[in-house]
Amino acid sequence: MIDPKIIVALDFPDQRQALEFSRKITPEQCRLKVGKELFTSAGPALVEALVGSGYDVFLDLKFHDIPSTVNKAVSAAAKLGVWMLNVHAMGGAAMMQAAREGIEVVARRPFLIAVTVLTSLSADDLHALGITMPLDQLVDRLARQSIDCGLDGVVCSARETSGLRANLGAAALLVTPGIRPEWAAANDQQRIATPQQALSDGASYLVIGRPITRHEDPAKALELITAEIS
Ligand code: C5P
Repeated sequence: MIDPKIIVALDFPDQRQALEFSRKITPEQCRLKVGKELFTSAGPALVEALVGSGYDVFLDLKFHDIPSTVNKAVSAAAKLGVWMLNVHAMGGAAMMQAAREGIEVVARRPFLIAVTVLTSLSADDLHALGITMPLDQLVDRLARQSIDCGLDGVVCSARETSGLRANLGAAALLVTPGIRPEWAAANDQQRIATPQQALSDGASYLVIGRPITRHEDPAKALELITAEIS
């Protein structure tokens, strides 16, 4: 079975641009991530269209609410036929367990992963929230708790990957954004890793946006990265 490691972040403002892009590449080359902007603008119909075209879709909506609400939201997402979806580990163990139960509504359940601590938050931001545990320990704790609640893995930065792989074991899915091939611009990403580096550190899947979506020939960019990692 083909198991492409690259998840292209479909960070487009509307359905037309997203679908236009999806026709330039193929489901054999990559999976696709639909985030909050695109989902809010284009809705479930776009997700169904992408799934209908053969793409595995990671629905990146980072659910965070009371357990029963998240349970139902996750069930609704699973029924769209998505391949992967996520919740915030900060929602707590009961919420994550409710999410885990919610994905069982379909025969082939999607992967369910957690966001630990948003990479946009600094140690100072956590302090301001009254959280005194060091950031890396908090990431480890939330990741462990996610696995203990039956989730498949976590989203993590390239910096966190090797530590989490050691702590969580071989079976956990580690989905890593902030990836830049040598030839691509960093854009607004601070701590980046190359695709090879992230995979050798233990990443299961790589989330890559602009180096592919803004490339003049997206299929070519995907080919280049795929060749680099194979
Ligand atoms: O274009 P680029 O490769 O930077 O896109 C990365 C994608 O991964 C974006 O959709 C971004 O929102 C997402 N992401 C991230 N860093 C995180 C979590 C998600 O860049 N810590």
